[in-house]
Amino acid sequence: MKVRKLMGALCAAGLLCGATASAVQAAEAVSVLHWWTSGGESKAVGVLKDDMTKQGYTWKDFAVAGGAGAAAMTALKTQVISGNAPTAAQIKGPLIQEWAEQGVLVPIDSVAGDWKKNLPPEIDKIIHADGKYVAAPFSVHRVNWLYINKAALDKAGGKVPTTWAEFFQVADKMKAAGIQPVAMGGQPWQDLTLWEDVVLSEGADFYKKAIVDLDQKTLTSDKMVQVFDTVRKIQGYFDNGRTGRDWNLATAMVINGKAGMQFMGDWAKGEFAGANKKAGTDYICAAVPGTEKSYTFNVDSFVFFQQKGQKAATPGQLALAKTIMSPEFQEQFSLNKGSIPVRLGVKMDKFDDCAKKSYSDEQTAIKSGGYVPSLAHGMAQGDATAGAMTDVVTKFMNSSQDSKSAVAALANAAKTK
Ligand code: GAL
Repeated sequence: MKVRKLMGALCAAGLLCGATASAVQAAEAVSVLHWWTSGGESKAVGVLKDDMTKQGYTWKDFAVAGGAGAAAMTALKTQVISGNAPTAAQIKGPLIQEWAEQGVLVPIDSVAGDWKKNLPPEIDKIIHADGKYVAAPFSVHRVNWLYINKAALDKAGGKVPTTWAEFFQVADKMKAAGIQPVAMGGQPWQDLTLWEDVVLSEGADFYKKAIVDLDQKTLTSDKMVQVFDTVRKIQGYFDNGRTGRDWNLATAMVINGKAGMQFMGDWAKGEFAGANKKAGTDYICAAVPGTEKSYTFNVDSFVFFQQKGQKAATPGQLALAKTIMSPEFQEQFSLNKGSIPVRLGVKMDKFDDCAKKSYSDEQTAIKSGGYVPSLAHGMAQGDATAGAMTDVVTKFMNSSQDSKSAVAALANAAKTK
């Protein structure tokens, strides 16, 4: 990410170099920048809006459409540069640190007294900067899911695949039954989501070496060539209309039976829920073939920007952070979002079987070392590295490039800082 450069320019222009004493007192309106615009996403963020409104705050919504937030992050930079930093923005993973390093965030420790004992240590670490809490986490999304339309599976006479060989068998059967086997959208982050699923299917250790450690030997290994070959083969089951297609429109294809399967994180479940489809009856959530014991995590969070004339977090910012981590909100938000609460110990009895599976698989993966950060969703690497690797995967998936040269390009991209 170019936050560092961008903030340098900003400071030089005299716009924002720490608190400005002359600025006015923050009003009790909270401006919130996020990218939750699909049906399920809007419902989920609506829970926060309602909670804040009930507490007397005015909600100013800055929703920037575009799954996974690329457009939202661009809008955020523009807002901060122009001296209009939002009260809170949806930022996650290493990007939290990148923004914190600019000195533009405010800590929220005063409402985070019991957070440490109620969060998985991996997550607690991510939302800290300089030993202080600077972000409030919403929920845990598992990325390595395969969604299957149950009627399509039955019609094709297939079974839920647990290996790639079984996956291709099911896909062939769906094709033969006149069903589009895989619904796929058309943005780079969706390409990377599928690619990292396939990396994970080679084992959590392989994933960690390649994606977390950026180990050159692993990145250039025969196994990595195999990953690209598998991705290429899966592409053979996409339809021709995927260019520019949003993820939720691909999910809709699975919901209405136009397509059989989709590789997507469990925010897709918010769409199924919105269409009144039931997990287990209308659709199946299965771990991506070969990844049953692993779990790619993706934790959304809000960070809080220093407001004009304020040295510390405003009451509205503290109220947001406190609300987001409250057990009641954690439950309601995740029920709409398709995720599971990030706060430990929240009751799961109102959740569907997919969420219950997510929860128990998460606990197993944490213990076994299979709990890994998603690259496609900003949890594994900073913006520059992740961006360079995304470019390689997207180029491969949108051309006839061979796997070996993609692997060489990937290893090179991983050196980007
Ligand atoms: C992810 C985000 C999720 C989900 C998805 C699609 O990166 O963490 O909350 O909404 O993008 O927009």
